[in-house]
Amino acid sequence: MKTSIDIGTDGAGQGVRIDVQELLATRLLVQGNSGSGKSHLLRRILEESAALVQQIVIDPEGDFVTLADAYSHVVINGGDYNEREIAAMGARIRAHRASVVLSLESLDIEAQMTCAAAFLNALFDAPREHWFPALVVVDEAQMFAPSVSGDVADNVRRASLSAMTNLMCRGRKRGLAGAIATQRLAKLAKNVAAEASNFLMGRTFLDIDMARAADLLGMERRQAEQIRDLERGHFLGLGPAISRRPLAVRIGATRTATRMGTHSLMPLPDARGADMRSMLFTETEAPADAARLRAPARTGGGGRTA
Ligand SMILES: Nc1ncnc2c1ncn2[C@@H]1O[C@H](COP(=O)(O)OP(=O)(O)O)[C@@H](O)[C@H]1O
Ligand SMILES: [Mg+2]
Repeated sequence: MKTSIDIGTDGAGQGVRIDVQELLATRLLVQGNSGSGKSHLLRRILEESAALVQQIVIDPEGDFVTLADAYSHVVINGGDYNEREIAAMGARIRAHRASVVLSLESLDIEAQMTCAAAFLNALFDAPREHWFPALVVVDEAQMFAPSVSGDVADNVRRASLSAMTNLMCRGRKRGLAGAIATQRLAKLAKNVAAEASNFLMGRTFLDIDMARAADLLGMERRQAEQIRDLERGHFLGLGPAISRRPLAVRIGATRTATRMGTHSLMPLPDARGADMRSMLFTETEAPADAARLRAPARTGGGGRTA
């Protein structure tokens, strides 16, 4: 059985391959600023390996649901289920070796973290007879394994971080191989990042992230400048499943695309100021005695009026 997949080309136009068998044992960390091409890269890996390995995608932005159009992935909309149902689904996914995309798009941040934690824990807690190999892709992983406490409730953050730590640190024995992407290494919990042995580093602006990326690639700080100059879709790859030396890769095309178009400029609408004003205001039906937003009537104490 062929175990390697083509992800793109190197500087000389030669194909660059990832050994999926090796990737399952050694995991992957992708870093790059927003727009550097991380999700595209993950999609390329998922598409190329779809026939080789079970795939489970944690998809905070609903980017990957289109995989279902061309491949056998089942889309689960996280917002449609409670925690218990999500956990039950996670267990069934292990038992049946289903490739799925868990879309968290419709949830707020705390609910996304809670849902991802319940799901990952269920994958992790599957009984031994269901420990089949599966690639677990987590996009925007810094959301689920943040390096510092932020605005979310502490118990939510801890549950999500613990599920991600289990995936990356203890998942291998159970067949789970994490492939995670983050905008910023400094925002991702160190112990989660540390368990990946394969790296694909894309364009990175901030010095602190560039320095960490260079450290992971075993590059000297002064060489690290090239990470800032990478173009969109270009990454430096290193690791047992990719290359023994840092290798420049231009990620190839994908069969499927995200639902959202690109955010390029487009002609503005023709409507003039007055037309626009009438469209915005007159199309609102004003119920005759509706509670309009109005200044509260003065009733001495400033209380609400009926
Ligand atoms: N290798 C590539 N070839 C062609 N288009 C790409 C490539 N990488 C990224 N893109 C395009 O660039 C845009 C940003 O890529 P994306 O993967 O969404 O970035 P990120 O996830 O890092 O924010 C998308 O429209 C994507 O289709
Ligand atoms: Mg992305």
